[in-house]
Amino acid sequence: MPEPELPQKSKRIAVIPGDGIGVEVTREAVRILRAATSKSATQLHFTDFDWGADRYLRDGTSLPGGAVEMFRRDFDAILFGAVGDPRVPGNQHAADILLGLRSKLDLYVNLRPVELLDDALTPLRDRAAKDVRFTVVRENTEGLYVGTGGHFQRGTPHEVAIQEDVNTRRGVERIQRYAFEFARARNLRRVCMSDKSNALTFGHELWLRIFKEIRGDYPDIESRHLYVDALAMELVRDPSQFDVIVTCNLFGDILSDLGSQLAGGLGLAPSGNIHPGQVSLFEPVHGSAPNIAGKNIANPAGSVLSSALMLDHLGLHAPANLLREAVRASVKEKKTTRDIGGNLGTKEAGDWLVEYIAARA
Ligand SMILES: NC(=O)c1ccc[n+]([C@@H]2O[C@H](COP(=O)([O-])OP(=O)(O)OC[C@H]3O[C@@H](n4cnc5c(N)ncnc54)[C@H](O)[C@@H]3O)[C@@H](O)[C@H]2O)c1
Repeated sequence: MPEPELPQKSKRIAVIPGDGIGVEVTREAVRILRAATSKSATQLHFTDFDWGADRYLRDGTSLPGGAVEMFRRDFDAILFGAVGDPRVPGNQHAADILLGLRSKLDLYVNLRPVELLDDALTPLRDRAAKDVRFTVVRENTEGLYVGTGGHFQRGTPHEVAIQEDVNTRRGVERIQRYAFEFARARNLRRVCMSDKSNALTFGHELWLRIFKEIRGDYPDIESRHLYVDALAMELVRDPSQFDVIVTCNLFGDILSDLGSQLAGGLGLAPSGNIHPGQVSLFEPVHGSAPNIAGKNIANPAGSVLSSALMLDHLGLHAPANLLREAVRASVKEKKTTRDIGGNLGTKEAGDWLVEYIAARA
């Protein structure tokens, strides 16, 4: 007797393309995700949300009430494009949507892998793909980005502006432990914690103290501490020293952009905003790029590689690896957009990836 068919499992994906090139690259990523999972036992179900500048300008909606509860209840992951539009003063909608989701879903890990896919793409002399392969684990809910502070005598010659740097024991410890666990799960040997505790003697002294307390729990991992200025220098001098870098919100933001350039630019850089075991959000590192929006020239690879991180988060490692393999092949064969040396448009680069994947899925 034939085996009865297994019930099809499914994962529910909320898609928020957002503004500008966010819309163009997300369209390609969804096509590619469909191709990679078309024959897999776990199917993806996509639901689109039109939150972004157009909707905000039309009816004032940014992040609707109840959205956070809906994501927790009804979805497994969120695929995000980018938000930001010059027509919205101060980009209020962008802050509401993206910062709102990061903080209300408590997405405390900002995972930003840096991987050089082709030697020719790095601006560093005499460096090859094997030398540029590390992950920045950025704290994503605290630090200087919490938005506490204030002005005194604003607009006068005596103006004072205070921006507070918030570091909690719970927040600092959980991100550092995540970095160690991340390394251990992937057989990576080295974790570097970076702060500026020599100058920031309260907040970052806490980072260093916690690091010294917990590093002994991971004797299989080589742990190292570097002040952030030294780390910035070392990343350019010899990036092969690093596997996992864990740091605060501000430094992680800056160092991962530096990393994206070491690996060929913003068009290729992926990220995940993660709470382990809970609904999490995946987006390319780049913004909405109004200067190239609507021209079919944006590189979709950052969104595709972010989709691979999303599949990993959902436990779907085979299609995740297929997405990465496809992007690597497209870079090798120069079947890419112009920013990384090809001559394809956004859609045509997406077509090439879909065909590559469809032949192997
Ligand atoms: N997570 C997000 O949604 C996010 C992140 C960064 C910036 N933003 C917003 O995006 C808007 C534009 O910001 P920006 O110009 O500083 O940063 P950006 O990342 O949008 O663009 C920076 C530069 O990189 C180029 N670029 C970016 N992505 C590319 C891609 N996929 N392919 C080819 N070239 C690419 C752009 O053309 C531009 O020259 C602003 O409103 C900003 O606030 C949003």
